[in-house]
Amino acid sequence: MSELGKLITLEGVDGAGKSTHIEFIAQRLRTHGRTVLVTREPGGTPLAEKLRELVLNEPMGALAETLLMFAARADHVRQLIRPALEAGSWVVCDRFSDATAAYQGAGKGVPMDLIQQLAEATHPGLRPDRTLVFDCPYEVAQQRLNATGRRLDRFEREDRQFFERVREAYLARGIAEPGRIRLIDGSTSLANIQRNLEDNLSFN
Ligand SMILES: Nc1ncnc2c1ncn2[C@@H]1O[C@H](COP(=O)(O)OP(=O)(O)O)[C@@H](O)[C@H]1O
Ligand SMILES: [Mg+2]
Repeated sequence: MSELGKLITLEGVDGAGKSTHIEFIAQRLRTHGRTVLVTREPGGTPLAEKLRELVLNEPMGALAETLLMFAARADHVRQLIRPALEAGSWVVCDRFSDATAAYQGAGKGVPMDLIQQLAEATHPGLRPDRTLVFDCPYEVAQQRLNATGRRLDRFEREDRQFFERVREAYLARGIAEPGRIRLIDGSTSLANIQRNLEDNLSFN
């Protein structure tokens, strides 16, 4: 009889520091005796990683983008996330359905009720136990992304107005659901952020 694991998701604008901190988060949980699976969206399974390639690089409309995100998520939840949670592992996932609401909903105008319905059909009864939203101003994020020197994907290349819509949507979701969603100031030092993360990783 194994206890269900918890689902922890990392969210926030591009360049805010999700990928940078995901292993730190996993290690903290391991220190507390949890078995931890680290994964990402879109992606996490062979099919979903193929869909990721498409959705991050291929020009397409917002609806196609939304449906591909959920197609990838359906496979990811079925093949990886649910089995891991049922085995008692904690799952730390870089982006989940909040990202679709922020990017395709607030960012690109896909109706929120459609996104909500797709989320319910894709992962009925499954909601993150904790969502860490990394927040960061546009200038900081841009400077960081440019400094990487790598080719930016379709979302990272979007303009400031898009970035601000996505950022605001995340902040609004955080205000609406303060129990689940915790805001992390991603613009400060790594040491600061790690302290803040530790404070937001306790569960009773
Ligand atoms: N707190 C920080 N201070 C300085 N640089 C950072 C910080 N957090 C992330 N970075 C750098 O910014 C870039 C984007 O971070 P990343 O974690 O990939 O963002 P995200 O996954 O949220 O898009 C990376 O090159 C990373 O090293
Ligand atoms: Mg990342």
